[in-house]
Order: sequence, then structure tokens, then C-alpha cells
Amino acid sequence: MAFETRDDAKLSPVSNTLLRWYDQNARVLPWRVGPDARKRGVKPDPYRVWLSEIMLQQTTVATVRPRFDLFLGQWPSVSDLADAPRDDVLAAWAGLGYYARARNLHACAQAIASEHDGIFPDTEDGLRELPGIGAYTAAAIAAIAFDRPCAVVDGNVERVVSRLFAIDTPLPLAKKEIGTRTAEIWPDARSGDFAQSLMDLGATICRPRAPACNACPITDNCKASKAPSPERYPVKPPKRKKPIRRGVAFALFNGRGDILLERRPEKGLLGGMLGLPGTRWEPTLMNKEAGAPTTVDWAQAGKITHVFTHFRLELDVYRARAPKGFRKPSTMVWMKPDEAKLPTVMRKAVEVLAL
Ligand code: ADE
Repeated sequence: MAFETRDDAKLSPVSNTLLRWYDQNARVLPWRVGPDARKRGVKPDPYRVWLSEIMLQQTTVATVRPRFDLFLGQWPSVSDLADAPRDDVLAAWAGLGYYARARNLHACAQAIASEHDGIFPDTEDGLRELPGIGAYTAAAIAAIAFDRPCAVVDGNVERVVSRLFAIDTPLPLAKKEIGTRTAEIWPDARSGDFAQSLMDLGATICRPRAPACNACPITDNCKASKAPSPERYPVKPPKRKKPIRRGVAFALFNGRGDILLERRPEKGLLGGMLGLPGTRWEPTLMNKEAGAPTTVDWAQAGKITHVFTHFRLELDVYRARAPKGFRKPSTMVWMKPDEAKLPTVMRKAVEVLAL
């Protein structure tokens, strides 16, 4: 969120205290230039900042850390990533969440390589025009990579700010007020450090459950810390249960212990990734055999559940051995189960087979 510079912004006691806390307590993260190095003039690499922000949209810092290093080892610059075959990028993304993100990541790298001479735009508006960069990510990159004074509101910041001001409006309605309040405390200088100080505070002290208010540098300023339960903030909307979808996945083995996999359609959930063939995932399972590679004697191997953003999947997993003379469809491949880079739901299904 962009906002106008205000005369008193640099004087906000909360931002000064948080920046001082960050100077002493910043987490060491592979994409981050720490506060000391920043003060010595070291600039963050926008490619690393962008990559980390896309990865962190769906996964925790603990998961992203090793994956980030692997990704960077494989593609050290945005131009290397732009030149990579798309399948390699999708495969390297396995387990990191929506594959649409990986497709956009690749498209974004290509746009930067071909339309921006391999250099990231350094403004929120310029970043916003790139594939896969929404309002949050544009603000985060503009602040962290280029120190632009953009208020960055991710889940951690949302929590810290809604507690600081004890915002009683439930989410998602509260987002507007949280945005305004965040902009009010945002300093003009050290924007990137400030964004990351809020993120670190939210991750380590102002945690969703059991916040460590007694270790918090801004507890004196925080309205929620004086309330009976600071955890109550941000106030959640009433919970709705996720709908259930059901499906069957078929694991056909050949004599060498390979498993038959198919590439999922480009568009849609887990688009372009490898997986077990199977039925559609629907609220009611209409035809258990639909999608089975051949008519063989399927034996039930187990059942898994997996929670996606919008539904909960219950997947029955069947196994069989390919009969003599079985010819695999040309759209499918034989692979060793542990060599295939499978999305999490498919990895769970394959793990059932080993039990
Ligand atoms: N979450 C999203 N971006 C982050 C960053 N730069 N540092 C720590 N946590 C984050």
C-alpha cells in the first residue's frame, strides 16, 4: 500500500523501538541482508527477495529455507531461471504449494529477462505489472529490495498490528483498518528493515498462539497485551467447514517396481504435475473405475486425506500389478516412486502403498 509521507512518521515511537529491536534480533535468512550489512551499504538482491516472497506465500520459513538454497543453486540469476525448461521449474516447486505460482514465477522471470533487460523494476507499480506479482508481493519487494516506503501487510503484520491497536472488527472486514494503522506507523526510512522487523516479531514473539508479551519490545504500546486474551486478535470470522471431495487413485506397478504416472492437465489444480491416474475429485464418487489405466484386479491399499485451500480430499488408493502384455498409454510414464517429484497429495498416496 503506498501512502503519502507524513512529517511525524519518523518519530513514531513504535517504529523506532521495533527497528532497534530488529538491529539486535533480526533472524538470519538466506534471502535477507541483515541490518548491520544494510547500514554498511549492502543492497539486497531483488531476485532473491522476489523468489523468497513467492515461496513464502504458502509455506513456512522453515520449509522454504532449504528449498530456497536448492533453487538458487540451480538458477543463480533471474536470467538463468528464465532460460530453464518449464518442467524443471515445476518439478523444483513440488511441495511448495500451488503450481500456478511456479508457472507465474517462470513467466515473470521471462518477462524480466526479455522486457526489462534482466533487471527488476524498482517501484511498487512497476512490479505490480509482472506475472504473479499481486499487491502484497509488489509492496514487499519494493520495501525489502528497494527501501520504498510501502506498508507491507502479510499474515504476521496483520496479527501484530491488529493486536497493537486491539482492532475488534473481524477479518476480512478488518483488513482496511489494519492497512491504515500499518501505514500510520510505517517509517519513511529503513522501510525494508521495518517490514522485516514486523515479520520477525510476528513469527517469534507475537505468535498466533501463546504470544510472548513479556519479551515483546512494544508491549507497553500494545492494547491487546492489556486485554484478557491477546490471542483473540486478529478477530476471526465464524468458521465454515470445508466441503469434502472424494476420489480414487490407481497405482499400477510393473515388474521392476516402477509405478505408472500421468501428467495432470496444464490448467487447474496441481496443473502440469505428475500424479497417479484416477477419478475426478467430486463431492460424490460416481464411478469408482473411471480413470483406471486398465481392467485389472485392483486391491485397496489405503485411504489418505489432504486439505486444499477450498476443500478436503478423501482419496482411496488402489494398487495392482500390470498384467502381461500391458501397454502403457502414451500419455503416461513408468517411474520409481521415490524418483518422481510428486506434489504432496500424490506423495501421501504413494506412501500408503509402501505400508
Ligand atoms: N515472510 C514473508 N517475507 C518474509 C521475509 N522477508 N522475512 C521473514 N519472513 C517473511
